[in-house]
Amino acid sequence: MTSTNTGAIRLNPDRNLAMELVRATEAAAIRAYPFIGKGDKNAADGAAVDAMREFLGTVDFSGTIVIGEGEKDNAPMLFNGEVVGTGRGPACDIAVDPIDGTSLTGAGRQNALSVIAVSDRGTMLDASSVFYMNKIVAGVEGVGVLDIRQSIGDNIRALAKAKGKPVGEMSIAVLDRPRHEGLIDEIRSTGAGTRLLLDGDVAGGINAARYESRIDMCVGIGGSPEGIVTACAIKALGGFIQTTLAPKDEAEAARGIAAGLKMDYVYTADELVSSDNTFFVATGVTDGALVEGVRRKGPIIRTDSIILRGKSGTIRRVQADYLAERWI
Ligand code: FBP
Repeated sequence: MTSTNTGAIRLNPDRNLAMELVRATEAAAIRAYPFIGKGDKNAADGAAVDAMREFLGTVDFSGTIVIGEGEKDNAPMLFNGEVVGTGRGPACDIAVDPIDGTSLTGAGRQNALSVIAVSDRGTMLDASSVFYMNKIVAGVEGVGVLDIRQSIGDNIRALAKAKGKPVGEMSIAVLDRPRHEGLIDEIRSTGAGTRLLLDGDVAGGINAARYESRIDMCVGIGGSPEGIVTACAIKALGGFIQTTLAPKDEAEAARGIAAGLKMDYVYTADELVSSDNTFFVATGVTDGALVEGVRRKGPIIRTDSIILRGKSGTIRRVQADYLAERWI
């Protein structure tokens, strides 16, 4: 269907939407820029949230936030269930992560991103009642080869074989957390190497799936919202993702079950996001393997973004120069 300004709701997001959404991640990254390395991650996040909210309000769509900054009572902005956009245009589910890597931003470290993912309305799993997921993400070679129920050793060996490379050359990304000590030992005992992430397993997952990346697989427990966002990107990259929910205690598991989630169950990409009509847009806040961070060059501020479109399987790179005087 074609774009309309008559107020009619369309069912599916179309390709024009991505160029509108990237303005919101660019704005969030630019607003966070003055806070990079200043030690105040909440100020950086707050600035990014405000900018993203402002720009999303101008986009011609009706976006229901399925993955947001928190529940309504806890977070006044971009809360789960909030409807954003002008209301004219397609009805969509939307996941926002104004900064994935708030601590990285505050510390001035690499790999912080501003992210939005979108899919057809009603197709994104609402996993917000369980905070963490166990994840395994890889490129297309992982399809039909990897299984989150297998040992990490078996998965590394199977993926190495599918990629035609020695196990000793495999690079496995994992968040550097005490909970992963055993996992890290197991990875290294196969002969493979780890790439320990300080934060930011969205970028880690996308880099695992991306053709020509130095990372072969991203594994371990990270945020559930980040898992859904990563699944939207995987739809466009043609890679592999499986997750299982990782509730921290019985009470959280019970809340998840009451919300319709399944424990001890393997969620595939299609169950995390049940539509192939997905968009994923990300703008670099700080430099990373995926995109460059925001930089000031004389009178301009330059942003670097990627746009992934599930339906067509395309990856676009977008560089934008903004007149600094209008922003800072
Ligand atoms: P924030 O920037 O929102 O803090 O998230 C960063 C992140 O590293 C995610 O990429 C990851 O999924 C999650 O935090 C892991 O959680 P934790 O830091 O509690 O292990």
